[in-house]
Amino acid sequence: MAKVRIGVIGAGAIAQHRHLPESDANRYSTVGAIADPVEDRVKALGEQYGATPYTDYKKMLKSDEVDAVVVSGPNALHAQMSIDAMRAGKHVLCEKPMATTRADAKRMVGTAKKTRKFLMIGLNQRLMPPHVRAKEILDGGRLGKVLAFRTAFKHPGPEGWSVDGSKSWFFQKGAAAMGVTGDLGVHKADLMRWLLGDEFVSVGGVLATLDKKGPDRKPISLDDNAYLTLQTKKGIVGSMILSWTNYGAEENYTVLYCQNGVLSIGTDPEYGVVADYANGDREMHRVGKMSTNEEQVASGIIDDFVDSIRKNKKPSIDGMEGYKSLDVILTAMDAAAQGKTLKIRH
Ligand SMILES: NC(=O)c1ccc[n+]([C@@H]2O[C@H](COP(=O)([O-])OP(=O)(O)OC[C@H]3O[C@@H](n4cnc5c(N)ncnc54)[C@H](O)[C@@H]3O)[C@@H](O)[C@H]2O)c1
Repeated sequence: MAKVRIGVIGAGAIAQHRHLPESDANRYSTVGAIADPVEDRVKALGEQYGATPYTDYKKMLKSDEVDAVVVSGPNALHAQMSIDAMRAGKHVLCEKPMATTRADAKRMVGTAKKTRKFLMIGLNQRLMPPHVRAKEILDGGRLGKVLAFRTAFKHPGPEGWSVDGSKSWFFQKGAAAMGVTGDLGVHKADLMRWLLGDEFVSVGGVLATLDKKGPDRKPISLDDNAYLTLQTKKGIVGSMILSWTNYGAEENYTVLYCQNGVLSIGTDPEYGVVADYANGDREMHRVGKMSTNEEQVASGIIDDFVDSIRKNKKPSIDGMEGYKSLDVILTAMDAAAQGKTLKIRH
């Protein structure tokens, strides 16, 4: 089969750090075209990757230059871009959060079904080596049932990451719709659903805007911190802490308290996964690194997407998975706004 020609919509930080180099590096894919309204940016990247630059993604979709599309623009544009791409006959890898409303996320899933195109969501925490090893250990059964967990994802904020710095869409309510909950929370909701093999049934908590300011120096109208409590169908309870105001080293850890011991992921700088058993045994696993904003490691998401296209098999993280993880976070936002714990109904 000829190489899968990938078109990238939104040529910002995630595209530049991951999707473009990873599409270029995969022996079965190539970058066919790139679309972004910022002309200089898209032209320079087009030259770098030997791909056609477009300032209007709809023109790219009309061309016959791509077989599949990566949607990596601002959150509020994901749904329409993905739907347009699938209707144009392209498979889609859409960044997280897949949409900003449940209705849009459902429309995306419906369009994938109708057009018979693959819809994959960029929830790449599942693919990171420490998380893969932790899942193997949990599924191995020696730790017994998970009873409780705490998980956190905290960094100094997207202004140090986005190609547009503090003027970025990340701080604009209309374009982002969600703050740190949509950025980091949706990753953690997805990771925990996958690690636990269980669905969340309730969530409550507090969202706050503590420190982030927009270009006008006024506080942003999005959350920059969130403290959530959750419960699963099987009764597992846990906490999730999310922050854009951790002005120190990034934290991305998860601790699972199980019947026969404790599993810690991302708490030791050398050993990505540590299992402490109730009988005193300790297993320390030196596994591949967790990607951080400062130090990017290959995410594996493009490799999975290309593999699913080549082998014509359902993507490993499909639209319904993206929907369920998004629903946890949208419910958390409603719960915080109402000051209540709410049921998650998907
Ligand atoms: N999976 C992950 O780990 C991960 C990490 C970072 C970002 N993301 C997600 O990727 C998406 C992009 O984030 P980023 O960090 O690259 O942001 P960014 O601000 O660095 O880049 C966004 C890009 O989108 C472009 N854009 C704006 N409007 C557009 C339009 N109409 N058509 C095409 N492009 C348009 C901007 O010009 C900019 O180049 C977000 O949804 C974010 O949540 C995912």
